Amino acid sequence: MEMRFDKRILCIGAGYVGGPTMAMIAAKCPQYQVTMVDVKEEKIAAWQTDNLPIYEPGLLELVKQARGRNLFFSTDILAGIREAEIIFVSVNTPTKSFGEGAGKAADLQYWEKTARSIVKASESPKIIVEKSTLPVRTAKAMERILSANPKGVRFEVLSNPEFLAEGTAVTDLENPDRVLIGSRETESGLRARRELVDIYANWVPREKILTSNVWSAELSKLAANAFLAQRISSINSISALCERTRADIAEVSRAIGMDQRIGSRFLQASVGFGGSCFKKDILNLVYICENYGLQEIAEYWQNVVKINEYQEHRFVKTMIRVMFNTVADKRIALFGFSFKKDTGDTRESAAIYVARKLLAENARVIVTDPQALPNAREELKDAGAAVEYEEDPYRAAENAHAIAVLTEWDLYRELDYRRIYASVEKPAFIFDGRNILPHQELYEIGFNVFPIGKPSLRHF
Ligand code: UDX
Ligand code: UDX
Repeated sequence: MEMRFDKRILCIGAGYVGGPTMAMIAAKCPQYQVTMVDVKEEKIAAWQTDNLPIYEPGLLELVKQARGRNLFFSTDILAGIREAEIIFVSVNTPTKSFGEGAGKAADLQYWEKTARSIVKASESPKIIVEKSTLPVRTAKAMERILSANPKGVRFEVLSNPEFLAEGTAVTDLENPDRVLIGSRETESGLRARRELVDIYANWVPREKILTSNVWSAELSKLAANAFLAQRISSINSISALCERTRADIAEVSRAIGMDQRIGSRFLQASVGFGGSCFKKDILNLVYICENYGLQEIAEYWQNVVKINEYQEHRFVKTMIRVMFNTVADKRIALFGFSFKKDTGDTRESAAIYVARKLLAENARVIVTDPQALPNAREELKDAGAAVEYEEDPYRAAENAHAIAVLTEWDLYRELDYRRIYASVEKPAFIFDGRNILPHQELYEIGFNVFPIGKPSLRHF
């Protein structure tokens, strides 16, 4: 065991959440040894190169500050557990695809297997930190598994949900709105809580480190994501009405957002929210409500997901309708495939729905994206030759019957749309699912322009 470090921290699950979080702790706290383990060997190998397994602005620089100094990577999970005093668990907790609660409940099998590995390998007391987003009262189940160990090793389970958003993970971790730490309010629970507070206090102001009981911490994470998603569904619901009434969603967003009680952020109408968390966490909340007999509450939150699906559906329906009710054999260029800009992540991206719907109409789809092409290929691999993948947006647009902007990458604002107009089929159509393009300018070039929640600009 390395004795030159004050603490030995382990993180099980080196993904989007575990990776950046541990890199930040290691960079800010050279006095701690931070080790990341994962079942996927190729992921662990990639973390040790300059080609990290995930794309996040600023992450490589952060990793390089600490890698080999106090940040280590390994596939030996059991040895990692044995050595550590504090273990963060950030394995994935996807929506269950089978059995009871399928399509809603969280699939906790990885979490439980991890808990069993911890029991198996531990020879000394440990603090276990839930980083994965979990259903309320999961910590209880974990405590049961952990305490059923014949060796009598003591574990304290804390909930420390992560609020980072992809694409801004590094700045979110460096300067968080708050850090939330839930513990039992027993003597040993409070001691464990203090240990974790001390880690974050290395760079986060104390007043931003909130402590609570475990259940509040677990529920706060689900509620925060549900509230954020609800804002998007709310503005998207109004966008549909704008299109019918010739009101402009950007003007409405600005007007309501200046009310300080409402606030201006997360009011950007779009083709729909994606990402690995929003839908999963809301469905999870719905499932928990149903389990406690709160049917009305479950339905209330379910509708946030329903409106999102409606918005995706509405977008494609508009495309088909205005392109003379058929897209069969037409080339449609999708600008962006990631669920938002500055990430290569495509999980639950609205682009997946849009692409599939167009393919079902026998369209030919050309996907372009600066970071997400590998994931897009994986996502659509069953579609075969009906989909083309093209790095260069100009080439993607060549001979296209329509362009649909699905991710708000900055580069799409800056393209030479005169050049693009010259190479596309006429009449030319642009569907701006993110409202990022200069619509009037495009119209003047010759495009028929269909934004979200704004009057369309058409030449016919
Ligand atoms: C995941 C969950 O999706 C989210 O609910 C939670 O809040 C945090 O963890 P993310 O980090 O985005 O989010 O997931 P992912 O990038 O898939 O990383 C999870 C990692 O755990 C993967 O690298 C996977 O290989 C690893 N893993 C999974 C293990 O090491 N052991 C397991 O048993 C299962
Ligand atoms: C979210 C939460 O923000 C974060 O706190 C939590 O830890 C994980 O889930 P993330 O999924 O990475 O983070 O991205 P986020 O920036 O929240 O965006 C989610 C989706 O909503 C994206 O598809 C984005 O394009 C969309 N969105 C966001 C809108 O459509 N309009 C908006 O105004 C904001």
